[in-house]
Amino acid sequence: MQKLARPLPPLAYGGDYNPEQWPLSAQLEDIDLMKAAGVSLVTLGVFSWAHLQPVPGVFEFDWLDEVIDRLHAAGISVDLATATASPPPWLTHQHPEILPITADGVTLWPGGRQAFCPSSPIYREHALALCRAMGERYGDHPAVVLWHVSNEIGCHNALCYCDVSAAAFRAWLQSKYADLDALNDAWGTAFWSQRYTEWAQILPPRTAANFPNPTQQWDFRRFSSDTLLAHFIAERDVLHEVSPGVPVTTNFMVMRHIKEMDYGRWAAELDVVSNDHYLIAADPEAHRELAFSADLTRGVAGGDPWLLMEHSTSAVNWQPRNVAKQPGELLRTSLAHVARGADSVLFFQWRASKAGAEKFHSGMLPHAGTDSRVWREVVGLGEVLQSIQAVTGARSANDVAILFDWDAWWGCELDSHPSIDITYRDQAEAFHAAFTDLGVGVDVVPPQADLSNYRLVVVPTLYTLSPETAARLSAAAEQATVLVTYFSGIVDADDHIITGGYPGLLRDLLGIRVEEFLPLREGESVQLDDASAADVWAEIVTVDSADVVARFADGPAAGGPALTRRTTEAGQAWYLATRLAADALRALCRRLIDESGVVPIAEGIPGVEFVRRIAADGRHWTFVINHTDIEICPNLVGVDLLTGQSGSRIGVKAGGVAVIEGA
Ligand code: GAL
Repeated sequence: MQKLARPLPPLAYGGDYNPEQWPLSAQLEDIDLMKAAGVSLVTLGVFSWAHLQPVPGVFEFDWLDEVIDRLHAAGISVDLATATASPPPWLTHQHPEILPITADGVTLWPGGRQAFCPSSPIYREHALALCRAMGERYGDHPAVVLWHVSNEIGCHNALCYCDVSAAAFRAWLQSKYADLDALNDAWGTAFWSQRYTEWAQILPPRTAANFPNPTQQWDFRRFSSDTLLAHFIAERDVLHEVSPGVPVTTNFMVMRHIKEMDYGRWAAELDVVSNDHYLIAADPEAHRELAFSADLTRGVAGGDPWLLMEHSTSAVNWQPRNVAKQPGELLRTSLAHVARGADSVLFFQWRASKAGAEKFHSGMLPHAGTDSRVWREVVGLGEVLQSIQAVTGARSANDVAILFDWDAWWGCELDSHPSIDITYRDQAEAFHAAFTDLGVGVDVVPPQADLSNYRLVVVPTLYTLSPETAARLSAAAEQATVLVTYFSGIVDADDHIITGGYPGLLRDLLGIRVEEFLPLREGESVQLDDASAADVWAEIVTVDSADVVARFADGPAAGGPALTRRTTEAGQAWYLATRLAADALRALCRRLIDESGVVPIAEGIPGVEFVRRIAADGRHWTFVINHTDIEICPNLVGVDLLTGQSGSRIGVKAGGVAVIEGA
């Protein structure tokens, strides 16, 4: 990436802007109201393909020229989408072969959005033509500070099982394995009479009579993620060519329920990482999932600041029960992202739609207009962001890392495993929540991250890891503390068990050997001899060069080790053989931070987040986000940029936020 043509606004504020849904009078009003709210950046054109190219070969840019010029005149910058996210009806009508097909053989017809197969060369050709036309027309426009490739790539069509995808999958496999024998070995096709003798016999893992081959399923996920990334790269390369100096992004979906894209590998291809995040309305503590997602977004961005590309001012429309944000929640959830490295607060969308599937989705400007709580909070948030603009560009320096890997997530949750209760992201989130309640800042990082500066590294349910990652964990444990949990290091990258006792490559590091899995029944729990409660999992652990810290007191592994610790040169390697209940997990995390010398940002209060950003010049800001219903006075010294309070006993109201400079 060359030098930036134009800088992004500091702590950019705004959202998706869809003026094509509105008459000119509303568009003129938009500008006045955007200025009133402090909007500095809007995302334009995300779903505008049908308006920009109404018929094949004909582009109509005049309307977009006017919108961009108007925004520019008002001092509002533009994140310009390439508009390729959703093909127009003429394209799918002309080429129905680009439609995606599910594992069950069901065609996903047009009428919604993103109705295309990610492997389709026809889609790719049309998308790149539009992308080039957009880049050539607007690459030099002074309002355009960022390119936004497609939108939430893979949101609805990540896994396509059509014949075009099947051919592309075979090509991907040929470049991975080179010859069929290697594929047969990797996929373990000696099992169940699955041996392939010609490439043409290989299909995506379509719905089968029984469990499809697990390595085939896993490779298909890798192929699908790579294919979507290849599309991003193709558009990005066009933009770099025709619009040099304007950074290119695409909005990730780092959220609990989305796992199809390996963002740990994608991030390096983006000029700036951006993420969309929506609260899970059914989860009364959804702010915890937000906190984890935001820390993970910073983790994939290599610790650099990133952009919050979308979230919502209040309710969404796509969950079963779309709970509205409570007063004050908009500020808390926005600053929870900023605290974790977001250099923007953007929404879907500026003006709530009147028609279409998203008409009940909140916006910055709600249906009720400006005489509304949401609007007042939106204006207030704009003012808050202006008062903390100094944090733009600041990073963080945490002592604790949680390792997170999409590839291991895919493998961990394949079918025909010992227990369906072993899931991946929830364990990582549980550790994150425990550290957060203890006032400790956490980085959530991909396995390739540099681990050398952490005092404590937690490795939850990492079903597979490479020999390089195992070696780096061993190196980290020489001078820091590493904790690994059950169902880690079970298989190699081909999903072959590493035999001789689990957890494979980590046995020496941990000084233990797991002989047998003893999964628990649904709802069953066990106790450890330190009175910790646990569920889901037990196993027979034999200790080699480790100490037993706690044993199973009952259940199928009664009397056997449940928590072990091996002391290294100047560090420790712990192993946890079960899933601890929340309070027991917090107690373990407290012990780990004490023993590893991790210093909390503040004395922890469950339900309160303490998160720190640090500028290159050493200035720092502690964000205090109080999700509880009582006022708190944290033990921090400084000046709250939001209220002007200073000193050592700054009060943070129930449901309130403070940004304490110098704390
Ligand atoms: C995102 C998408 C937006 C909008 C939003 C609604 O998935 O990028 O276009 O649909 O969700 O929450």
